[in-house]
Amino acid sequence: PAPGWTTTVDAIVVGSGIAGLTAALELRTQVPRVLLVTKGELSSGSTVWAQGGIAAALDPSDSPAAHLEDTLAAGGGLCDPAAVEVLVTEGPERVRELVSRGANFDLAPGGDIALTREGGHHADRIAHAGGDATGAEISRALVAQLEAVLADPGIEVIENALVLDVLTTSPDEPGGPRACGVTLHVRGQGSRDGVGAVLGRAVVLATGGIGQVFRSSTNPPQATGDGMAAALRAGATLGDVEFVQFHPTVLWLGLGAKGQLPLISEAVRGEGAILLDTDGHRFMPAVHPMAELAPRDVVAHAIVRQMAATGSDHVLLDARHLGADFLRRRFPTITERLLDQGIDLTEEPIPVAPAQHYHSGGVVTDLHGRSTLDGLYAVGEVACTGVHGANRLASNSLLEGLVFAYRAAQEITARVAAGELPLGTPVERDGEAALVPAAARSRVQSVSSAGPGVIRSGEGLRVAADKLAAVRTDAHRSTDVVAAPQTAEWETTNVHQVATVLTEAALLREESRGGHFRTDFPEVEPAWARRIEITLGADGEL
Ligand code: SIN
Repeated sequence: PAPGWTTTVDAIVVGSGIAGLTAALELRTQVPRVLLVTKGELSSGSTVWAQGGIAAALDPSDSPAAHLEDTLAAGGGLCDPAAVEVLVTEGPERVRELVSRGANFDLAPGGDIALTREGGHHADRIAHAGGDATGAEISRALVAQLEAVLADPGIEVIENALVLDVLTTSPDEPGGPRACGVTLHVRGQGSRDGVGAVLGRAVVLATGGIGQVFRSSTNPPQATGDGMAAALRAGATLGDVEFVQFHPTVLWLGLGAKGQLPLISEAVRGEGAILLDTDGHRFMPAVHPMAELAPRDVVAHAIVRQMAATGSDHVLLDARHLGADFLRRRFPTITERLLDQGIDLTEEPIPVAPAQHYHSGGVVTDLHGRSTLDGLYAVGEVACTGVHGANRLASNSLLEGLVFAYRAAQEITARVAAGELPLGTPVERDGEAALVPAAARSRVQSVSSAGPGVIRSGEGLRVAADKLAAVRTDAHRSTDVVAAPQTAEWETTNVHQVATVLTEAALLREESRGGHFRTDFPEVEPAWARRIEITLGADGEL
């Protein structure tokens, strides 16, 4: 729809998790006008839900080189070593900066940051806060910093604003099209209500993940893949899209459970909890030398196999031997959430099963967060920097958001100062996809869970592709929603677009690696040790 209002700034940041807040705070000190837009409130989004922590080689007995080695091993041969090098070497400094921004991490008796271990790590390097409420504490500190600077006219925040599209300049421009702003749908009041356009020299997408593409996920309802879909429509390249991480230990609430499900942090296993099948048999030591602390994809797939072998739809996470006092002190959030469900983890094993948790792929970027579309940056979960490869190492996600948002902000600042990012005039794009009605969302979610879910097959993926195409055909025929689209229709359109790209990428990759497991190609194929990249063609098709 045509924008009802327009405003112009220097840099636009979309999203207010750790990556968006960091980018906005850094940019605000260096470019004149920054706008942060977020879909809910400043403190909503995925970061606040992060439990286990943030990984960084902070202990003198640890090293960035050891962190690099664990990250590459978890990534199944598909990490970009240069990106991982940046992550692990700059990570410790960025985490210390978080402390100076006011984040209170849990401390060890000597006063240093307390460090724990999670799957795939060979050292204690996970900093945590509030026991198991790390993301909430980081978000609190960053939001407080941002609110403290809001009196400064150089930064503005618009809440309840969904990014609809990334605006681009003409393809005929020398050097090709550039990103030059975004359109937004703001559910507010006053002059910034409804659909508007914000023009800017740089757009930073920090929109998070894709959890709502699936029937169940640890992600909050906001995780509808908006940034990824908007970047794709604007002509940017996506990569590693097929690598979806399913967290091994998500509270099992029965087969009908849908939407956001409670996470039982990997740190519970890090502190010594073990996995049992429903017959009481501990199965992980026979699967991997790191047993319950093997990389996440290994544990999730072992659980699925064990569930099939025992004819059960869940397994059990037993933490009782860690002691009631320790569990309540170390994991207050999880203890509370479980009690809400009538489960006392100090007295009984916790029923768990894998559920969607994280998207390792996304908008392809370089080491400075630059996408393939000039002026468009992506940081945090929406990005594909190459640090995760086929499977993200536990607690590397907050770190990636922090490190690469900082780098993107530095890069934008330098380019603005050098006059490299002029404001541009947006052009209308041809061949826009029809909006998918909100009512189709649960159909798309069921198709994704059955197709590009935790266990995939060529046949299942082809069925999923056909069903997703049928949803699109129905959307083209429908005239209902097009007249007055709202957030739910735009989000559902994004969910559908992401599901379609994910299914296509999963069909292409005829092997199993990291977060992508196919029963018809169960082995790692050396010929597939490469990234699948996806761009829309001139006709708007994949
Ligand atoms: C967890 O606490 O298990 C989640 C950590 C992560 O996703 O890296």
